[in-house]
Amino acid sequence: MFKKDGSIYVFGNKNMIAEHWFSQMKIDKKELLVWHYKNSPKPKGRWRMSMQPIIYGYRPNSYFNEDAVRVEYKESTKKLNGRIRPSSGRMDKCSAYDTSKGALPRDVIERPALLGHLAKERVGHRDQKPKSIVTDLILASSKEGDLILDCFGGSGTTFECSVENNRDCITIEKDDINCDMIKERAGKIFENYGIDLQPLLDERM
Ligand SMILES: C[S@@+](CC[C@H](N)C(=O)[O-])C[C@H]1O[C@@H](n2cnc3c(N)ncnc32)[C@H](O)[C@@H]1O
Repeated sequence: MFKKDGSIYVFGNKNMIAEHWFSQMKIDKKELLVWHYKNSPKPKGRWRMSMQPIIYGYRPNSYFNEDAVRVEYKESTKKLNGRIRPSSGRMDKCSAYDTSKGALPRDVIERPALLGHLAKERVGHRDQKPKSIVTDLILASSKEGDLILDCFGGSGTTFECSVENNRDCITIEKDDINCDMIKERAGKIFENYGIDLQPLLDERM
């Protein structure tokens, strides 16, 4: 389904991971990323839900651009040039490292859920993902001009993030209401390029 050097990201829940994806995906390598949000919606279950797993599947030669998704170090780390203050001994004995490029991306991605004032980004889909996460996944695993496929398009977040970052995108969505959201989102993007999407749409859409 995907190129020899492609990658796949699947936002999931614990049932999908345990019973389906981990056993069924025939991909060489898998890693588990965790989207952690502190602004949890109303509690479900005994342990308040504050994370969503993302399964990352790739092959040994899959493209990965860690520099595109580095995160800025904390001010305190930058000030010490990466040195860790020892509990004993002299600070000048610790080796420093370059903090100017930012830290390598971590497998726990801390981003707020689209609630409250962050709901500005919302277009009406109940399971809409934050653009900042989808953008990072795209930047890490594809180059400009690459083709991104989202088989579970929802409201078109992947489409929007792909186009904004000069990638082509095919988005598939089964639900008519969601397709309307995607069309509306796509229309706004095309408008920014001075293109009217309406006449380009197939009459069946
Ligand atoms: C988790 S949502 C995707 C949300 C999306 N990433 C966003 O940010 O808006 C999953 C979507 O997949 C769609 N879907 C589920 N099964 C599908 C199928 N077999 N073919 C196409 N779309 C499907 C659902 O209607 C739903 O909108």
